[in-house]
Amino acid sequence: MLQTRPLPPCSPQIASWLCSLYLLLWAGLNAAQTSDSADREQQDIAARAVSLLSFVAVDYPEAVQEGAVADRSLYRQTRDNAEFASGLVEQLPDRPGRTQLLGSLQSLNSAIADKASAEAVRRQANAAADRLAALYQLPRSPAESLPPASEARALYQDRCQHCHGIDGAADQPERALNDPVRMANLSLYDFYNVLEPTRNDAHDQAVDGDLSSRQRWALAVKVASFSAPQLAPAPKLAKRYPALVGLPGIAVLRPATLPQEARESLMWWRAHPVETRALQHPLARAAGLLYLAQSTYRSGDAASAYHQIMLALRTGYQPARAQLAARNPALATQLDQQWQGLRDAILQRAPSNEVIEKFQRLLGNVVKARELLQPTGGGAIYGWAALLFLAALAVGALLWFGLRRRRTG
Ligand code: HEC
Repeated sequence: MLQTRPLPPCSPQIASWLCSLYLLLWAGLNAAQTSDSADREQQDIAARAVSLLSFVAVDYPEAVQEGAVADRSLYRQTRDNAEFASGLVEQLPDRPGRTQLLGSLQSLNSAIADKASAEAVRRQANAAADRLAALYQLPRSPAESLPPASEARALYQDRCQHCHGIDGAADQPERALNDPVRMANLSLYDFYNVLEPTRNDAHDQAVDGDLSSRQRWALAVKVASFSAPQLAPAPKLAKRYPALVGLPGIAVLRPATLPQEARESLMWWRAHPVETRALQHPLARAAGLLYLAQSTYRSGDAASAYHQIMLALRTGYQPARAQLAARNPALATQLDQQWQGLRDAILQRAPSNEVIEKFQRLLGNVVKARELLQPTGGGAIYGWAALLFLAALAVGALLWFGLRRRRTG
């Protein structure tokens, strides 16, 4: 995500001119990264606030029940966390939407002070966390794919099991990681953040300070496996909720916010990302990766965004192109041009509003193509709605306004 990655290999499928362009771009960007550490610091502050808010949402219902404090120290901690999160947001640079966000954090703080209902506080805290992540363009997903839980087996045994127990069944209830009700309120990204010392201080540096991003994601998947249902959901559910079997939905969404069957399914899918990958339509993968690429681009890392676009093209669009061309050749041609246009815009460092507009149009058409090849049917659009909602948040009100004016005017 935020770490610098080694140069990706140039695969034979990619035309060699593209590789050279990419390498040029890479070199250029590495030379031009001036404000990188400031950006990273901002992202850490934003991610820390998101983590605090997620835990406000999950802890508050245990701290306050029916308008009365049930657990005094947890209540105090929840209140302090919400206030601390507001303070962090105040430290972040102003952006369109930040004033509104500060307003909603203020009403969250008042709701906690008034011992409002658990449901209201949870909703407000989660909504504020999502809005904050969108406003500051936190990728909230691994740069590529999610590792399997098995990758973290030894690490869990060495570093976690003596506190959290075998398969998360700790002796002390506050350390248990296998309660499906609690875990359904947290996303994989929330688990990831717990293991990132710049974002959460649940653990000492010795527990997770030296882990790589990939190790943290593998541990997040491992943790998710402790509360996952035994049985895999029916494959037709993957068609009904396409945004839940791939990034970013699988990492970002909290199962508890979804309808029952989607919720159970996500609990399983996020614990088995490798098996889940095969269920994903290639164009759904393309859409998810494009969405991530857009966040990455907006966070200022054009080289990684370009890498993600190429991944979306190669592993998502190209495998489905022939089928699409047979069904709707005009759409396939338009998409070819849009992919090319987006790549050119990034390579030529076009103004970012132009690049974002190209992202949006391409993403819209990829979603359309996917619906054409694998219709989700009437009421089953929910998964996409969730993804598109996230995407829309990420674009920001101003840009939408600009786009609409240009389209209609
Ligand atoms: C020294 C004991 C200890 C070790 C070792 C430890 N943890 Fe924890 N962990 C805790 C405690 C205590 C909490 C609760 C902290 C709090 O509420 O502030 C916690 C919280 C968590 C949470 C959040 C759970 C929730 O429901 O809020 C996760 C996830 C987690 N740990 C995962 C891990 C993983 C993965 C490892 C191994 C890399 C690990 N922990 C190692 C003690 C430990």
